[in-house]
Amino acid sequence: MHILHVVGARPNFMKAAPVIAAFREYGVRQTLVHTGQHYDAFMSDIFFQQLGIPEPDFNLAVGAGSHAAQTAEIMSRFEPVVIAANPDLVVVYGDVNSTLSAALVCAKLRIPVGHVEAGLRSFDRDMPEEINRILTDQLADLLFTPSEDGDLNLLREGIDGQKIYRVGNVMIDTLVKLLPAAKRVTRADDVFESPYALVTLHRPSNVDDPATLDSVIRTLDTLSREIRIVFPVHPRTRKQLESLRGWTPGRNIQLIDPVGYLEFLALQLHAVLVVTDSGGIQEETTYLGVPCLTVRNNTERPVTTTIGTNVLVGQDRETLLSEARRVLSGRAKKGGIPPLWDGRAAHRIAQIALCAYVERVGVPFEVARAGR
Ligand code: UD1
Ligand code: UDP
Repeated sequence: MHILHVVGARPNFMKAAPVIAAFREYGVRQTLVHTGQHYDAFMSDIFFQQLGIPEPDFNLAVGAGSHAAQTAEIMSRFEPVVIAANPDLVVVYGDVNSTLSAALVCAKLRIPVGHVEAGLRSFDRDMPEEINRILTDQLADLLFTPSEDGDLNLLREGIDGQKIYRVGNVMIDTLVKLLPAAKRVTRADDVFESPYALVTLHRPSNVDDPATLDSVIRTLDTLSREIRIVFPVHPRTRKQLESLRGWTPGRNIQLIDPVGYLEFLALQLHAVLVVTDSGGIQEETTYLGVPCLTVRNNTERPVTTTIGTNVLVGQDRETLLSEARRVLSGRAKKGGIPPLWDGRAAHRIAQIALCAYVERVGVPFEVARAGR
């Protein structure tokens, strides 16, 4: 059996790492394609090193572009690669443009697609990711969901229940594995020495419109009078901040470059509070039991609010400040860990994919294990 994985952007890497490792245990032949959607060393290379992901066999080097340009570029560069590789299954991750582009190419070539993190829905089509999620799930043959809401969303959209497998959360597999190493992370500066709130922002809805970004960061200015803020700045946000006139971060706001996975996990572990609009960070804080305020009106990860520590604060300044004060005064919402977020999701994916392959091709399990 030959599996081809497609990754492209930061949140893909921590999802693909455990899946690649699980298939390796079964001796499956694997090919890794990096679309190059993210390309800075601290948005890409560092994750390959820290997460033990093998060097990509192909880097399509697409870089940045409008949605249409980026999607089209990935499709036209990926098509000859996947035709030549002729894999039995292509595995795509999450909801970025690389995910949909690869799934669409494969669907037209009738190459089976597995979607890891299927079924998530924010029900907000202003998010480009929501379009990517809906379309990728329509195209996929194996849909691996992290939680029950994912199964229900897919069934509601008419997807055959036989294609849906609730496996748990692969991002948490990586977290569970690397938590001991993250606990050993030290920093040359004094970041861990006194209490801080950790902030990340990169959603176009928060950072692309100058007036909205201005309002969000002025709220952070106010919060920084009550607690120090550590803010690793995403490249999209960095560009927007540079063009925002009249704002310089106050003394209690530490803007830093994006950091590696281990450093960021350590920053979450030591934080009093996380303020974010990231998808994955809502999940990681839930697992770690760290209070999380999400600067969005909705989430495609509802279990982080119903079971976990996540609270949606929208873009309202007063809500963010009052929820932050609740945490700072020791009244943070308590949370638990959702079912199947246990560090074994990738193994379940590998077993299901191998069984599906055997069913389709009709060879004994041992032959599938040995590769073709
Ligand atoms: C992408 C995903 C988003 C995900 C985020 C994770 C889509 C539609 N969006 O958003 O779902 O949450 O990644 O981080 O797929 N840039 C750099 N260096 C890099 C990467 C990007 O400078 O290594 C700059 C580029 O100039 C680009 C901008 O950041 O214009 C945005 O990059 P892009 O990949 O288009 O979208 P993200 O905002 O990163
Ligand atoms: N992350 C990281 N360094 C950072 C910020 C985030 O390693 O400076 C990790 C974070 O721990 C999580 C993932 O990146 O595993 C989330 O990715 P991101 O927020 O870029 O995308 P999203 O999840 O919103 O799609």
